[in-house]
Amino acid sequence: TTQDLESILEFTVTLARTAGDLILEGSEAIQSVTASKDVNEKKNSVDLVTEYDVRVEELVKKEIAQKYPTFKFIGEESYSAGSRPPLTDESTFCVDPIDGTTNFIHGFPFVCISLGLIYKRRPVLGVIYNPFLDHLYTGIKGKNSYLIKSKGQPLKLPLSSPPKPLPSLSQALIAVEWGSDRVGKTIDSKASGFGRLAGDPAQGVQGGKMAHSLRSMGSAALNFAMVAQGGLDLYWEVGCWPWDVCAGIVIAEGAGGIVTGSHDVFSATSSGASFGDVTEDILTGRKYIVVRAIGETEGET
Ligand code: IPD
Repeated sequence: TTQDLESILEFTVTLARTAGDLILEGSEAIQSVTASKDVNEKKNSVDLVTEYDVRVEELVKKEIAQKYPTFKFIGEESYSAGSRPPLTDESTFCVDPIDGTTNFIHGFPFVCISLGLIYKRRPVLGVIYNPFLDHLYTGIKGKNSYLIKSKGQPLKLPLSSPPKPLPSLSQALIAVEWGSDRVGKTIDSKASGFGRLAGDPAQGVQGGKMAHSLRSMGSAALNFAMVAQGGLDLYWEVGCWPWDVCAGIVIAEGAGGIVTGSHDVFSATSSGASFGDVTEDILTGRKYIVVRAIGETEGET
């Protein structure tokens, strides 16, 4: 029920902040090792990243198991380590302990924990927390989404409401991601798609209009959050995993955004819109996210 979700949200927000403290601790440890010239240093930064990914996930998993012993758990680290529970109708937390791992290594402060809850195979609750900026995003299916900055009052999303329609695609700020799949065919398809969006005005794209600019911030969950906030008009990526998008779907939809292709990520079936399908909605002020699951690399823009 909605009441249950409200109380799960309260728990999840507290959990996100606790996990955020551990992420900050990990970042300090990594930056000091990276800066250190001591070759006898026991741990290198790669070990530390792995260690903190696992530690954050274990912390979260343990707290969830204590509070909600019947809930299932899907986490990026457990999944990579071989624990791959099938998605069922049961309540299931779907967690990326550190989204934006490359940013985390480099000290680029677009890093978050993404905590999503799935019920009957659909995302119903999401919390995304960036501890570096102290920005916390919340969403419950069917309700408004919020941003809480530095423990202030919750701000309803999008921040400028209702979002202004865009006069043309040339005003749209679009997030794209390079992702981790960089094999030749995939990278060629991504690069040519990005090129057509940002490219030569003389050649035109989408009827002679092109994006105002492109951004690659390095965190799928924070891209969702930024579309919800209104800072981005579109986020498009091929190659997402459920834990990258679960919380973000709820938060973006609660802010009036449209998410398409996300069903692929949960059911591994094929569907999803091409960029051409979404431009109309962007121009009328609907914010848009298109994600496609790993394996579907034939993205077209
Ligand atoms: C990745 C980041 C990246 C996106 C990838 C994600 P990770 O998650 O969100 O921006 O392009 O699709 O898998 O590995 O940093 O948790």
